[in-house]
Amino acid sequence: MMPHIFLYGPPGTGKSTIGKTLARNLKLPFFDLDNVIEKKAGMYISKIIEEQGEPTFRDLEAKALKEVIVEKEGVIALGGGALLRNENRVLAENNGKVVLLMAELETLFKRLDPDSSNRPLLAGDMRGKLASLLANRKDHYSSFPLCMQVDGKTARQNALQAQVIVGHFHLRAMGEYDVLVQMAGIERLGEMLKARGLSNPILVTDENVAKFHAEKVIALLCKFGFDPKTITIPGGESFKNLESVNKFWHGFLEAGLDRKSTVIALGGGVIGDLAGFAASTFMRGINWVSIPTSLFSMVDASLGGKTGFDLPEGKNLIGSFYPPKLVLSDPNLLLTLPEAEFRSGMAEVVKHGIISDPELFSLCSRGLDWVKDNLEEIVKRAMAVKIKVIEDDPYEKGFRAALNLGHTVGHAVELVSKFQLRHGEAVAIGMVSEAKYAERIGVAPSGLSETIASSLSALGLPVEIPGELPREEIIRAMRMDKKKNAKAIRFALPVTMGKVKLVDVNDLESVLE
Ligand SMILES: NC(=O)c1ccc[n+]([C@@H]2O[C@H](COP(=O)([O-])OP(=O)(O)OC[C@H]3O[C@@H](n4cnc5c(N)ncnc54)[C@H](O)[C@@H]3O)[C@@H](O)[C@H]2O)c1
Ligand SMILES: [Zn+2]
Repeated sequence: MMPHIFLYGPPGTGKSTIGKTLARNLKLPFFDLDNVIEKKAGMYISKIIEEQGEPTFRDLEAKALKEVIVEKEGVIALGGGALLRNENRVLAENNGKVVLLMAELETLFKRLDPDSSNRPLLAGDMRGKLASLLANRKDHYSSFPLCMQVDGKTARQNALQAQVIVGHFHLRAMGEYDVLVQMAGIERLGEMLKARGLSNPILVTDENVAKFHAEKVIALLCKFGFDPKTITIPGGESFKNLESVNKFWHGFLEAGLDRKSTVIALGGGVIGDLAGFAASTFMRGINWVSIPTSLFSMVDASLGGKTGFDLPEGKNLIGSFYPPKLVLSDPNLLLTLPEAEFRSGMAEVVKHGIISDPELFSLCSRGLDWVKDNLEEIVKRAMAVKIKVIEDDPYEKGFRAALNLGHTVGHAVELVSKFQLRHGEAVAIGMVSEAKYAERIGVAPSGLSETIASSLSALGLPVEIPGELPREEIIRAMRMDKKKNAKAIRFALPVTMGKVKLVDVNDLESVLE
């Protein structure tokens, strides 16, 4: 199958305009099916319908669809009735994702040029005809599961929303690569490597992940003619060290990797950081692909091109900026993730909601069960937030610091708890205490910290600094935070839901109540 993106919906929803922007964003070719038909027929669609009738036009449409589909992966804008024929619908749905664009009658009416001679089905009383077209096709249009409302938004905003819906991003700020979020996407890994010219893969993973997923990934790659070796290390942060990197380097040599080979990192943030670093240094840098398997690594660690490992003196002290050639996020992989890891990862998802997606935040507030039943949407939205931030500020010169929300207090609490608290748990506590502080200094309206706390609680995350952790030690730890500059510590504080502000704080004692 071809992984096309089809844009569909009533006339006037902006399928062509949005489609062109979307194609540009994703670096894909764009096809407008109506244009293809007109070019082939050598006449306007209005003329075809007028002279040969609508059924003939629909035949031509079906033929054009079949032809466009076999071309290379692209964004395809369809005519407003192109999928009325079931045969066409099946063809489209088997060859990509169909996104239905919908709008209020008024929006459509305003957007359509009343004089356009090329809207034959709407000629004459346009408003009336549009209304009855919408009524007639109501069931048809509403039967498409991927749907978005385009009213009141620019083509750029709509294209971005379409990207979130289909789970397809193309990053350019550091390196250039696709980030894909697809349920069961792993099934298509071989095809994705082939499409990107990535060859001779080797799989790098940890024992916990290997137990559930390595065999399947190997089998899927073999189906595409690859013959990957596997290097496995034990799971956990304590193995994020030079010894593991060394094991990878030697494993690469043993497997006969050369400069054209591809490292596939299958695992959580630890594997991603290690494998990315090993790839960045092996023969001065070979290709790597990131397949995050923990929620945390999907929505956070796998995005941004940072790789590295820990020294006994401290975490992440050695590393490089080295983006992968592809990030493939398959939410199905999360089904085997231990519950506590899942909950911990949710703290970062909530953080992304607070930073810039209020709707994501309110989806998280529905609690753990709802989230688990709607994983794909949660992962896509959370990834979209981080992608937006890192694309705007890839090398952490400015607003990327927004991602630090909850982390100044969080890191300190994590450290003082001697890592008894998981990272996400500490960040949950950090977000609430930083929000309370933001309220006290008038940066946030009162009540915001309570809203954040109740959402985190519904996800089974802690929201209060455990009583046994000494306040002075937490403050001391904050001072040591590596993100400090000479005098003050820069906090990312919530302003309202969906907005944060960077604030320099001198008086750290005042941060904790
Ligand atoms: N590169 C970056 O930008 C960046 C950003 C933030 C954090 N990080 C790093 O990410 C790391 C934390 O990531 P993490 O939380 O994913 O840790 P992790 O890789 O240790 O994974 C957590 C645990 O879950 C297990 N696991 C992962 N996926 C699984 C699955 N699908 N089924 C069963 N078990 C599974 C792992 O074996 C491990 O025991 C830290 O080392 C941190 O420094 C990197
Ligand atoms: Zn974090």
